[in-house]
Amino acid sequence: MTETALRAVIKGTGSALPRTRVSNAELAARVDTSDEWITERTGIKFRHIAEPDETTATLATAAARNALDAAGMSPDDIDLIIVATATPDQTFPASATIVQHALGCNGGVAFDVAAVCSGFLYAFSVAESMIRAGSAKNALVIGSETFSRILDWEDRATCVLFGDGAGAVVLCGEVGTRGALATKLHADGKHNELLYVDGGPSTTGTVGKLRMRGREVFRHAVTNLASVMHETLEAADLAPQDVDWVVPHQANARIIEATAKKLGLDPNKVVLTVDQHANTSAASVPLALDVAVRDGRIRPGDIVVLEAMGGGFTWGASVVRM
Ligand code: UT7
Repeated sequence: MTETALRAVIKGTGSALPRTRVSNAELAARVDTSDEWITERTGIKFRHIAEPDETTATLATAAARNALDAAGMSPDDIDLIIVATATPDQTFPASATIVQHALGCNGGVAFDVAAVCSGFLYAFSVAESMIRAGSAKNALVIGSETFSRILDWEDRATCVLFGDGAGAVVLCGEVGTRGALATKLHADGKHNELLYVDGGPSTTGTVGKLRMRGREVFRHAVTNLASVMHETLEAADLAPQDVDWVVPHQANARIIEATAKKLGLDPNKVVLTVDQHANTSAASVPLALDVAVRDGRIRPGDIVVLEAMGGGFTWGASVVRM
């Protein structure tokens, strides 16, 4: 590995969750479901649900502040903000510009990326490419979602699966061996009808509700995630046994277990937060990363694989030396 390469290094992580935490039992009082079904099929125990004053942008801003604190940096150091979200505060402008203003950043570039549950991987890839190209120095990459606002609370097959939250990383250009080593992204638009929202500004003029054919998504998720992780590790010239931690998209504990098994990865090296947060879409990977950094599991120098798959379909993975 060349010591002279400019790479995007994760200098700090942060996250934010809505105040209200809802257990499976509390949900079962409102929806025809049970703690037993949700736990057994998904591994989910709790999710956080945003109150009216909590939005994608407010959660993103709080996560960004925590990441800046962890990096020992100020908003003025940041020249690029990307928010990955499928649940923006407004159809436009981008939630990233709301975050920019709330943080008090002066100047720079701010925009949103829409790749649903893979959104953080897509945003991360754009930011690290811009850093390597010299068009940004210090970036905030944020995944933030309020999926509770687009759930059909009458559809038990989907409403029990998702939660709200935000996660963020500060990425800085640095010459050395740390940073993003390889990132691979994919999309296949023919699967739109398996996971989508049945509304939008240009079609219905409404926001719409989430629709999913869970069993089909499950099958694609395990295949695509195992394959993109393999591809990304190969691009980084690493093998599964070189990996210190996997930080997967937190959709379903069974998907995470099956994917790790397919790659021959030690399940003890996989960060699992789906029990506490449920599926927070684009927020899930940076949220889980922040948990494992703050509790001391992930340490500087560790080889970490980030991966996600979601609506589109879109999927991707990144190998990072922390
Ligand atoms: O982040 C984007 C990626 N998304 C995902 O990765 C989600 C992928 N899919 C999954 O995680 C799983 O497919 C689910 C958790 C969504 C569903 O698990 P499953 O084992 O595939 O169950 P199923 O959809 O095949 O449903 C099994 C049964 C059905 O009843 P019958 O037809 O067998 O009588 C459902 O009606 O479970 C029933 N069911 C429920 N029962 C109680 C569905 N939802 C519920 C519920 N509570 N909430």
